[in-house]
Amino acid sequence: MKFYQSVEYPAVPAHLISDNYTDPSQYQTVKEFKKFDYGQDHYWQGEFIPAPEYCIYTVKNQDLIDWVKQNVSPNYAEIQLIVTRHKDQGRMIVHTDMSRKLALNYIINAGGNNVKTNWFQEHDKPVIRSTKPNFAQTDTGFVEYDNLDLLDSVECNANSWTIIRTDVLHDVSNISGNRTFLSIKFSNDYEQELLKTFD
Ligand SMILES: [Fe+2]
Repeated sequence: MKFYQSVEYPAVPAHLISDNYTDPSQYQTVKEFKKFDYGQDHYWQGEFIPAPEYCIYTVKNQDLIDWVKQNVSPNYAEIQLIVTRHKDQGRMIVHTDMSRKLALNYIINAGGNNVKTNWFQEHDKPVIRSTKPNFAQTDTGFVEYDNLDLLDSVECNANSWTIIRTDVLHDVSNISGNRTFLSIKFSNDYEQELLKTFD
């Protein structure tokens, strides 16, 4: 099974990415800055894991939407801009995504050196997890890091496109400063097609 696939789409022209997150012609706020910890403290081998904050916007800039359609893929449902931030070595806590099995991410700002996206399997659980309830960490709720085996990792650099599996437990480690990326959700039909190439 594949957990990610790098794709050679062109870099997004800088003028299409605004950092004016409060401009309604650019973005619609989905989630204001919030701690990425599912309301709990997390530990790994007794050590506290510092969770970053994150926020989510839906991209409204029609020029960027058109550019993605023409240069990347017409088969998408939504483009989001996500910011995660932590002062030093934050870890976006392990989870599965809410309403997608794949995400196409474009890194605008990596959030430091050696930032890794990691995939895990929980002991005695399947690799691929089912749809989870709203706001839950996974389909079975809380997950302990001490019950996880690392399956794979990738470092995604600025200006690169990567399709990642989001129905397998994943987290992002070593976030220092702001990590900013576009995250594209595919249409359901296209996601199903694409998933076949990840088996
Ligand atoms: Fe995720």
